[in-house]
Amino acid sequence: MKSKIVLVTGGAGYIGSHMVRALSGAGYRVVVFDNLSTGHRQLVPRGVPFHKGDIRNPKALAAVFAAYKIDAVVHFAGLIAVGESVVQPLSYYDNNVAGSLRLLEAGVAAKVKCFVFSSTAAVYGPSRTPRFSENAVLAPGNPYGASKLMLERIIADTALSTGLRFMLLRYFNASGASADGSTGEWHEPETHLIPNILRAVRNDTPIKVFGDDYPTKDGTCIRDYIHVEDLCAGHLAALKALEAGSSSGVFNLGTGRGHSVLDVIRAVEAVTGKKVTVSVKPRRPGDAACLVADPTRARKVLGWKACRGLTEIVRSAWAWELS
Ligand SMILES: NC(=O)c1ccc[n+]([C@@H]2O[C@H](COP(=O)([O-])OP(=O)(O)OC[C@H]3O[C@@H](n4cnc5c(N)ncnc54)[C@H](O)[C@@H]3O)[C@@H](O)[C@H]2O)c1
Repeated sequence: MKSKIVLVTGGAGYIGSHMVRALSGAGYRVVVFDNLSTGHRQLVPRGVPFHKGDIRNPKALAAVFAAYKIDAVVHFAGLIAVGESVVQPLSYYDNNVAGSLRLLEAGVAAKVKCFVFSSTAAVYGPSRTPRFSENAVLAPGNPYGASKLMLERIIADTALSTGLRFMLLRYFNASGASADGSTGEWHEPETHLIPNILRAVRNDTPIKVFGDDYPTKDGTCIRDYIHVEDLCAGHLAALKALEAGSSSGVFNLGTGRGHSVLDVIRAVEAVTGKKVTVSVKPRRPGDAACLVADPTRARKVLGWKACRGLTEIVRSAWAWELS
C-alpha cells in the first residue's frame, strides 16, 4: 500500500521535530514546512523533504501542496511564548491566526482530509478544581492562548462546510527529549522550566522560582509535564483515528499527574547528582497555582495514555542538554 503523506508545519521546532521522527517511524512520508524563525534546520532528519517558508505566504504554501499529494496536515508552526504574546499581541495573532488561516485555505483547496492542530492548556480559564477536562471553562488569559482558541473555532467552522476532519490537541507542559538523542528542546530564549533548571545546573547559577506561597503542597506551582514522545504518540493515535473514520474531536494531552516546581528541582538533583540553587521571586501575574490535565477522554476515545514519568523526562532532557 502507498504510504500516506503528512505535511508537518513547524517540523524544525521542538515538538515538530519529534513528530517528524514518530511519523516516519510509523511508515508515513513526511514533508516539513518551517520558516526557521525559532526552529533549527539540523533538527529535521536527513532525507525528509524540507521547505523553508512561512505559513503566512500563500504562494509558498501553494507550491508545497502542488508538489505533494498531501493526505494530512499536522500543524505546529506558530509563536509559543506566553509572556511575549502579552507584549507583542499582533505578532501572535498574525502568525498563529492569520498564518493558520492561510494554511487552512491552502489545505482545503488541495482537498486535504485530516488536520491535527497543536492547541494548548492555555485556552482554559482559572478554575477552582486542579484538573482540567475538555469541558472546563475556556477563558485564555493572554494573546497566545486566545490565538489558539480562535483557531480551534476557525478549524471547527471550516470543517462544517468542507468535510475536513480535525483533531484539536490541548497540550500541557511538553518536556524531555528523544530517546535516541537526535533531537530535543532548543528555544532561544528558553522559557520552560526543565531546560532552564538544567542550564542553571550546568552553569552553576541559581534558578528563579516565581512564588512559594501558592496554595499547593509546598507553595510552588504545580504543572502536568508530559514527555514529548508521549505527546507525539498522542498525535499518531489522533491521526490514525481520523484515518479510520472517527469523528473530529478535542483532547487534552497530559499525564493527569501534577508536579510542583520543587518536585522538578528534586528530580533534576537526583538525575544530575548536582545541587540546584533556588532564588525565590514574587509570583508572576497570570500563573495558575495548579494546571493538570484530566486525560480520560484521550484514553477512552483514542486509546492513548502517557507512559513516561518525570524521571525519564529529566533524564532525557539532561542527556540532550549535555549533547
Ligand atoms: N512546548 C510546549 O510545552 C507547548 C504546549 C502547548 C502547545 N504547544 C504548541 O505546540 C507547537 C510547537 O511548539 P514548540 O515548543 O515545538 O515550539 P517551537 O518554537 O520549537 O516550534 C515552532 C516551529 O514553528 C516554526 N514557525 C513559527 N512561525 C512560523 C510561520 N509563520 N511559518 C512557518 N513556520 C513557523 C518555527 O520556526 C519553529 O520551528 C506550537 O504551536 C505551540 O503553541 C507547545
